[in-house]
Amino acid sequence: MRIVFIGPPGAGKGTQAERLVAAFHMAHLSTGDMLRAARDAHTELGRQAEGYMSAGQLVPDAIIIDLIRQRLADADCRQGYLLDGFPRTLAQAEALDAMLAQAGTPLDAVLELQVPEEELFQRLAGRGRTDDQPVVIRQRLVAYRKQTEPLLAYYGAKGLLRSVQGLGTVEEVFGRARQVLDPRAS
Ligand code: AP5
Ligand code: MG
Repeated sequence: MRIVFIGPPGAGKGTQAERLVAAFHMAHLSTGDMLRAARDAHTELGRQAEGYMSAGQLVPDAIIIDLIRQRLADADCRQGYLLDGFPRTLAQAEALDAMLAQAGTPLDAVLELQVPEEELFQRLAGRGRTDDQPVVIRQRLVAYRKQTEPLLAYYGAKGLLRSVQGLGTVEEVFGRARQVLDPRAS
């Protein structure tokens, strides 16, 4: 399966992605994890991304699209993948569509994780990543509302959108997400 995972910062995308890729045998492609790895390895990509990430802003589309284009060519993506944190803008979604159309490998579903704002702040406050200070979380939320939320209508119009309630225990949310991706599973 080829899945896009969308949700605001702290919704639990990474947490659920780990379980979903194990259950459905997909590669886990988190652009946030890739950028943090590049930053920690002091690569040119990491250097370019750092300022945006620490300000809670999106890294420019061209950089991210290039990163994903290269990653999708890796052998482990042939078995399917879950895109965690990509696409985040309409330009990224259109670039992904073009890549997948050319490869003849369409998306199976877009999974949206819905979590109210107060809960997002509580979850992120308890984690402590460098971009988890309240002022940066607020900026990440603004970026989500402005730049990423329009993708819900974009994928809704394509009939791909599946929305899941992200409140509850990790196991409860996982049960809902699994059910939505494979209604035969119980
Ligand atoms: P990214 O790493 O994608 O961060 P994010 O979207 O802000 O989301 P998080 O990773 O913080 O949250 P999550 O939804 O994965 O939740 P998690 O499972 O960790 O992006 C970081 C930055 O990189 C961006 O700001 C941008 O600068 C850049 N970037 C990345 N992709 C980009 C792109 N495509 N374009 C441009 N720029 C890009 O859970 C959060 C916490 O909640 C954890 O502590 C967890 O234990 C807890 N939790 C999880 N589930 C539950 C539950 N059910 N109940 C209680 N607690 C829970
Ligand atoms: Mg994450």
